[in-house]
Amino acid sequence: MSDVKKIKVEICLGTTCYVLGSFRLSSLEEQLPPNLKDRVEVVGCACLEVCHDRNYGNAPFVRIGERIVDNATVEKVIEVLQEMVAAGGSNE
Ligand code: FES
Repeated sequence: MSDVKKIKVEICLGTTCYVLGSFRLSSLEEQLPPNLKDRVEVVGCACLEVCHDRNYGNAPFVRIGERIVDNATVEKVIEVLQEMVAAGGSNE
């Protein structure tokens, strides 16, 4: 299992996202279900530069692999991760 490529989850800690709730995602890693714990790497990051682009929706934003998730909550991020793992777990 250790050679499985991890899916990178970047929680935006830029001002807009932080104020609008990305701080609530700090517990994401502890809340991951057992099947995701070894598959996911959770990190914080600076502004993802999508908060001023309405095409991306509303903050807070999380980047999962190459995908931007808006209105991010722990539940929504876990849902997207489960879909990605079910689809093969690609980080590309
Ligand atoms: S502050 Fe999060 S995308 Fe800019």
